[in-house]
Amino acid sequence: MEVVVTSNPTELGTIVADAIEQLVTNVPNATLGLATGSSPLTVYAELIRRHQQGRISFRRTTMFLLDEYVGLPADHPETYRMTIRREFTDQIDVPDSSAHGPDGTATDLLAECQRYEEKITASGGIDLQLLGIGTDGHIGFNEPVSSLASRTRIKTLTPGTRNDNARFFTSPEEVPQHALTQGIGTILEARHLVLVASGATKAEAIAKTVEGPIGAMVPATSLQLHPHATVVVDESAAAMLQRIDYYRSAYLNKPAWQTI
Ligand code: GLP
Repeated sequence: MEVVVTSNPTELGTIVADAIEQLVTNVPNATLGLATGSSPLTVYAELIRRHQQGRISFRRTTMFLLDEYVGLPADHPETYRMTIRREFTDQIDVPDSSAHGPDGTATDLLAECQRYEEKITASGGIDLQLLGIGTDGHIGFNEPVSSLASRTRIKTLTPGTRNDNARFFTSPEEVPQHALTQGIGTILEARHLVLVASGATKAEAIAKTVEGPIGAMVPATSLQLHPHATVVVDESAAAMLQRIDYYRSAYLNKPAWQTI
């Protein structure tokens, strides 16, 4: 796993946007996996800026969201589909019909999970999957003790995750109990995984993800099994990493032609 320690969230956004720009430029029909949450926001802001400068187009890019709440009406502002439109896809030139998310309003949720898996497969698979991380080490909504081989399915959110996400709702009880999420097995099939994290609240989860033993209690440790996983953090999220000096020197000594 490569670890890139950046000085601040803006630099984090630039480094990850460089990798996405390179992908979208070299592979015009690229498939990009999107994540909601606070850490990827500087990545989206930088991509929007480059798009507005005419430097990058997403017209032929297909996008897949990681997860979605179950039971919120489709036009609720906190559905992940509405959130990603607001924060990213409505501000670039990707057609809305090319940006997909699991449908948390489907009457048959099991069939919806299967349909979503098939849609990802039919696209040729995800080239680069952006990931955030929960304070308990979850990715997507794969909460602790999720199977490391899991596929897209319905998950019950932990009280901790509902509490973390309560800030987006008028009351904590309004946070849905369930979500649809790509499974860890699904996520591991993406060709490049880029996990981003900023802020001190993520420091413990990042240290466990990078340096801890692989295990279902910290779902993000599954990235250690992936041949091309990159963890991009700011100084605060990196604060508990034991081998930080090594990560810094490895990144500085990378061949100039190589992005993350
Ligand atoms: C939710 C999402 C995750 C995201 C996490 C962290 O649980 N399902 O995909 O990584 O929030 O969000 P934040 O970066 O806002 O803390």
